[in-house]
Amino acid sequence: MEPSLKDLTSFDIGKKLWWHLDKVNKLVNDEQVWPIHFGIDPSNLCNHDCVWCSYTEVLPNKKMLEREVLLNAITSMSKNGTKAITWSGGGEPTTNPHLAEFFHHAYELGLQQALYTNGQLLNDHHIDAITKGFQFIRFSLDAGTDETYQKAHRVRPGTFHTVINNISKIVKRKIGTTVGVSVIVHETNYKDIVKAAELMRNLGVDYLEFKPVVFAEHQGGQQYSKDWWANEVYPLLDEAKTYSNNEFKVLVIGHKFDSIIMENFGRDYHCCLSHHLQGLINADGTLYVCCNQRGNENFKLGNLNENTLEEIWWGERRKNIISNINVQKCPPNCKGHEANKVLWHAKNPLQQFHPNFL
Ligand SMILES: C[S@@+](CC[C@H](N)C(=O)[O-])C[C@H]1O[C@@H](n2cnc3c(N)ncnc32)[C@H](O)[C@@H]1O
Ligand code: SF4
Ligand code: SF4
Repeated sequence: MEPSLKDLTSFDIGKKLWWHLDKVNKLVNDEQVWPIHFGIDPSNLCNHDCVWCSYTEVLPNKKMLEREVLLNAITSMSKNGTKAITWSGGGEPTTNPHLAEFFHHAYELGLQQALYTNGQLLNDHHIDAITKGFQFIRFSLDAGTDETYQKAHRVRPGTFHTVINNISKIVKRKIGTTVGVSVIVHETNYKDIVKAAELMRNLGVDYLEFKPVVFAEHQGGQQYSKDWWANEVYPLLDEAKTYSNNEFKVLVIGHKFDSIIMENFGRDYHCCLSHHLQGLINADGTLYVCCNQRGNENFKLGNLNENTLEEIWWGERRKNIISNINVQKCPPNCKGHEANKVLWHAKNPLQQFHPNFL
């Protein structure tokens, strides 16, 4: 059967965890597990300069993952039972000249793959690998016009059209790969919300998702007000949703819009368990606890230029670091947030919920 997004309304992490009950059970019993998923930043170099980019702590070093180092790490992932890799950043993955070879190696080892990209530098080698074996690709487009794109991604006029052309190439070539497009909603681009929906539906992508910008601590940490979201943005998101049809979905990632305005950002858990299920390899070879902590010295588990992935993952340094994580100091809407809500309650069921009454 052709993959269909007909019934997709959101990417629900709570449902995904049911596929990994063996590992969840181990976590609940304080046992260590090998990650199901790795995020990999092939490069800290980026050809764009988005006004909201929160990765400004790693981007300046412009490092790229060494070919041999990463090929060995991918082999380790496969040997130990990792199921999937997301290629992301850091910077822009497509600036690493070995990217197509990394894709091929992971594919040969049976790993599932996805790519987050700004899409400007995608070449035929990337497109061949993606359309052959990727689960999905997600373009960070963030605009509906060249004018807004220039302001948001701070690029030269016309770059938007190059990206649209590359999205179109993938749409035309795709066999089973889901093609998604994302828009981070920020004051520079929110007026394009409806235009983006119309454009992406006409282009034939599978989905367009909207998520709120998050300002990290080093960006001042002050989020937009509840009133701004409610008065300026929500009506446009509602209008954009009317562009959904059977072939194309507009996904407003509701839990992210909710948490960004909630007290304590909706954290009802006291520790992070989600990081056990995934790791993040940055372009300088550092393995971090998670993608939201890339660049943070206190979350560096080790470096692949010095140790193997297995040595770092099962090592003493990782044990010490993860036992000292204070989730209250973590950024809002982090990658592990939704999983943490579920995992915390699996480990600490609230008796006032009467957990045995199903
Ligand atoms: C850092 S980028 C790396 C891959 C690639 N350069 C790209 O933009 O797709 C990964 C995702 O993080 C998002 N992102 C970066 N800064 C953000 C912020 N402050 N708030 C929300 N999302 C952000 C980007 O929009 C992008 O979709
Ligand atoms: S394209 Fe990605 S890495 Fe580059 S500046 Fe934008 S969000 Fe940051
Ligand atoms: S709570 Fe979020 S940011 Fe903090 S360690 Fe866990 S996944 Fe990372």
